[in-house]
Amino acid sequence: MTRSISLSTLRRMKADQTPIVALTAYDYSFARVADRAGVDLVLVGDSLGMVMQGHAGTVPVTLEEMAYHTRCVARGLDRAYLMVDLPFLSDYDSRAALESAAMLMKEGGADMVKIEANAEQAPIVEALSRAGVPVCAHFGLRPQRVGQLGGYRVQGRGEEAAEQVLADARALEAAGADILLVECLSAPVAARVRASTGLPLIGIGAGVDCDGQILVLQDILGITPGRPPKFSHDFLAGRDSIPAAVEAYVEAVRSRRFPGPEHGFE
Ligand code: KIV
Repeated sequence: MTRSISLSTLRRMKADQTPIVALTAYDYSFARVADRAGVDLVLVGDSLGMVMQGHAGTVPVTLEEMAYHTRCVARGLDRAYLMVDLPFLSDYDSRAALESAAMLMKEGGADMVKIEANAEQAPIVEALSRAGVPVCAHFGLRPQRVGQLGGYRVQGRGEEAAEQVLADARALEAAGADILLVECLSAPVAARVRASTGLPLIGIGAGVDCDGQILVLQDILGITPGRPPKFSHDFLAGRDSIPAAVEAYVEAVRSRRFPGPEHGFE
């Protein structure tokens, strides 16, 4: 189905400096709430491994599970652009990534896939792009790599790490990425990435200097178990309905009241 927000809309929003509001959703009902509240981009994130399935991380999530949740969300969207994660190892080389993207777009109804990638994975991004797949490259903190990283850590701190992140951004843009998404990235480094790229830059825990913001639905409703992430905010607190909370999130991002400097990392 054709939704009213396209990649061109998101590019225009960057050019007009209109903040892009993004949010995760995993089912039809919440997708409809997000769509009606004015969310521009809905992500079926592999965070569903944690918030829907109760796993400790995103690694166990399968491609079939992503496709199932994508189909459910797709039915709830008339307006918002639909981005879907390539889950762990479904993109280990170009061929695997192409087959996975085909499934998520043809069977799931996704508009775009998101791949956790740095410069090393640029050839995979290039293969997707050459095949006509709209791609979002997710870097900075890559949750599928927390096993290797040894935990969730802020990325880009120190000049050498910052230069590496900037090199990743350049390589991913040159490979044909259409959107960049940075997670848990030092805010000054995210600002440097934004200044260096022509692509829409969406942040989560990456400070105020991004073209858009994304959060996990359960975090903005204050129902994520454990300590809420520093970069999030409970928009349901003080409101009496879930649609009102999602509308408040949309309004806060659009008017640049969220995130504040306190939600980012130096
Ligand atoms: O899976 C997810 O929800 C994500 C967001 C944290 C950006 O990748």
